[in-house]
Amino acid sequence: LIANLKQLVKTGSTLIVVEHDADTIRAADYLIEVGPEGGTRGGQILACGAPKQVLASDSPTAVALRTTTPLRAGEPRKSTTALKQRSARNARAASRAESGAWLELYGVTQHNLQAVDLKLPLRRFNVIAGVSGSGKSTLVRSVLLPAVRHALGLVAEPCSHFVRLTGSESLKRALSVDQSPIGRTPRSVPATFLGIWDEVRKLFAVSKDAMVAGFGASHFSFNAAAGGRCHVCEGQGVITHEMSFLPDVVQPCPACQGMRFEPETLRVRYAGMNAGEVLGLSVEEAAQAFQNHPKITRPLTTLLQLGAGYIKLGQGSHTLSGGEAQRLKLAAELTAGSKHEATLYVLDEPTTGLHQADVEKLIGVLDRLVDRGDTLVVIEHHPLVIASADHVVELGPEAGERGGRIIAAGSPQQLVKARTATAQAIQSLFA
Ligand SMILES: Nc1ncnc2c1ncn2[C@@H]1O[C@H](COP(=O)(O)OP(=O)(O)OP(=O)(O)O)[C@@H](O)[C@H]1O
Ligand SMILES: [Mg+2]
Ligand SMILES: [Zn+2]
Repeated sequence: LIANLKQLVKTGSTLIVVEHDADTIRAADYLIEVGPEGGTRGGQILACGAPKQVLASDSPTAVALRTTTPLRAGEPRKSTTALKQRSARNARAASRAESGAWLELYGVTQHNLQAVDLKLPLRRFNVIAGVSGSGKSTLVRSVLLPAVRHALGLVAEPCSHFVRLTGSESLKRALSVDQSPIGRTPRSVPATFLGIWDEVRKLFAVSKDAMVAGFGASHFSFNAAAGGRCHVCEGQGVITHEMSFLPDVVQPCPACQGMRFEPETLRVRYAGMNAGEVLGLSVEEAAQAFQNHPKITRPLTTLLQLGAGYIKLGQGSHTLSGGEAQRLKLAAELTAGSKHEATLYVLDEPTTGLHQADVEKLIGVLDRLVDRGDTLVVIEHHPLVIASADHVVELGPEAGERGGRIIAAGSPQQLVKARTATAQAIQSLFA
């Protein structure tokens, strides 16, 4: 890919590439770093110039690239501890996998897949790797997930692109944690999606101000018509004008100035804040403000660990970036608590858009899903994610008609011995 990009430049084109990949960054003629962090903590140009100059600084990208360099030289690196811990867990879990708890899908033939037989250990971290166009998404998203969902009675339509499915009996749910948007209106916000707004409303309702005014918890909902929400914007905080043939024009509500509630609702304060101000807190600030309320802080802490602490509780979920939406879904899944049932999770390239440091955090969070008994199937190119898996299946050897077969399967340690593209990509991690 990099060679092709350089070719484009030779032909006189000017290229602007948005990328986290270390090799692409080093190959650039001119590097611009935006940051320093995500969301409101970013938005500045931190450095620009030749990669050599920028990467010699202490900017986040420079630091991240320096800590991953020894990885290429085969020297020990920071995350070896993570990998070591994992092999300990693998050893513990090995007997379980060998006892026959496998999910098996035989004779898959959609798109370029050539009668593929897929076998994945249940309650483990599975990665599907392979070059672009080899058939990963087809196998997992177009066939495996719909087939399991049908077998569990979650969807009516049968999936016809395979011969036989076994091992799904122990599962109760199967779902994709993807980057698709959450909702289409400002009615869903991280606070409602994570289920914490119900808890915050209860806290407001037992405050002295609310008792005196006679406001119950439902008064602090911005989605219920009967409550104390702003009547002008109906609790959305914004007024949306639909324009034919043009994007919608969104303006802050002139009555509540984006606070979403009527003035008498906003007079009620909890810990000095009104309901509108709580929605304006970032995840990080809210975790601090509600630190004595575990039902509220638990999902917030998970989002913090996923590097999304800067997201505002009241930001319309439809405005979140794909990666932010995916991390919010992951955090919501991890907070289901005791109601949780054995689940098959499918993730298609969850590291897209993530900085190196955040990739390690993501792996830690994915591990928690496996530790509580869920089955993970992650489509991924990132070497560290592949190396962290319990079981890797590689599709290939090439794209389209020349792909569509399973060319390697096993633990990452076993895979390294194969002479495949993925083996090469993770080799240095096991040196
Ligand atoms: N709807 C479709 N109709 C026909 N062919 C398709 C369709 N979707 C995908 N393909 C083809 O099937 C092959 C596998 O595609 P798939 O999307 O599964 O690859 P992938 O391994 O997920 O690639 P990437 O890493 O780029 O996401 C490709 O050659 C692709 O062109
Ligand atoms: Mg794909
Ligand atoms: Zn309003």
